Amino acid sequence: MTYELMNADSLAVHAGREDLQALGIHALPLDLSSTNPLPDIERGGDSYESMALGGHPLPDGGAVYARLWNPTVARFESGLAQLEKAQAAVAFASGMAAMTAAILASKENLSPAADPAAKPHVVAVRPLYGGTDHLLASGLLGVEATFCGEDGVAAAIRANTVLVLLETPANPTLDLVDIRSVVAQAGSVPVLVDNTFATPVLQNPISLGAAMSLHSATKYIGGHGDAVGGVIACSEKTAEALRRVRAITGAILHPLGAYLLHRGLATLPVRVRAQQESARLIAAWLADHPAVEKVHFPGADGDPRGLLRHQMRGPGAMVAISLRGGFEAAKQLTSGVRMFTHAVSLGGVDSLIQHPAALTHRPVAPDARPSANLVRLSIGLENVEDLMADLGRALGSLAEDGTGQSDMAHAASAR
Ligand SMILES: Cc1ncc(COP(=O)(O)O)c(C=O)c1O
Repeated sequence: MTYELMNADSLAVHAGREDLQALGIHALPLDLSSTNPLPDIERGGDSYESMALGGHPLPDGGAVYARLWNPTVARFESGLAQLEKAQAAVAFASGMAAMTAAILASKENLSPAADPAAKPHVVAVRPLYGGTDHLLASGLLGVEATFCGEDGVAAAIRANTVLVLLETPANPTLDLVDIRSVVAQAGSVPVLVDNTFATPVLQNPISLGAAMSLHSATKYIGGHGDAVGGVIACSEKTAEALRRVRAITGAILHPLGAYLLHRGLATLPVRVRAQQESARLIAAWLADHPAVEKVHFPGADGDPRGLLRHQMRGPGAMVAISLRGGFEAAKQLTSGVRMFTHAVSLGGVDSLIQHPAALTHRPVAPDARPSANLVRLSIGLENVEDLMADLGRALGSLAEDGTGQSDMAHAASAR
């Protein structure tokens, strides 16, 4: 089969499974070995050396040790790389482990022209997931971070800048960032795009000039809320640097997680498109709701820069709303819903609701933290009318407080 010619939907089902036929098996195998028998000292040692330097196991030397290499993880990486139209992918124990490795590996990009006394520098376009923002602001990894808006990237670059980082659509405001513009502003500095919200189904940052496309695979890629993982699609050269960091820091994805995430890839396009269709309907309905001040959803502003057409293949299934009733309204809504689960995380088959300022974005500096009236919704695969009815019931009491409009009447008028 010529995988390069496959449509992304077919790739999602088949990529990373190329060796199964020769193995005589149909479903993905799960190899849980923590260590592997060595053919002899020399060949085992050479294979170890190859992987410690960021390469692959040598064919006659074996995988040696599961912190360096695991075939179940490697199959998932191959599948994800193909979906992202990238040469390679490297999988980690979580999205944050992937982000940590990307930042640590980027320190190798420090230009010899940079002031040797200066720390490696990262430019980060806000808003970002709270954990990423916190990691950069903390200085824990020995890099200095400058936070800026999309148009401030060029001005923020210094001689010691090793990485530019952005999220689009961004967590939690769903702001879109023009990847090509940031890549142009970054010049020779590599750009990492957190592609968690869009997934490879809707956006391929590598094709737009980014050096790395990162996913919290915990979200849409797994899709069932039962596996934590992270993955970065990139060039083979960047993958070598990431694998070197992964081998030293021990951040490799567990094979059971890789198995679940790879299985998730097969249904990713179907799930994303179905969830997105419901999100479109819910975003449009919420825009007219009296309790809602503003709906945050890609394209809700009319997409003046055409990013939904030229950068993405759809808006995705995340929606955020600013409520007229402030924090109190957010509190009532999150505890008033029944079908939506009040929980952090996103991208699964079931719908979730959460308050970013209090939870996912709590560690962000107060001046950059999302506002207290913002609530984030991850739209799942439930029936869309059931989801609207659930939100409508919970929003109903707020609407009566604010406007006197019966929300069930509003929900009914939307159908
Ligand atoms: C956009 C984004 N990036 C990265 C992460 C971190 O991923 P993980 O929780 O798998 O470590 C998250 C988690 O919510 C996220 O939303």
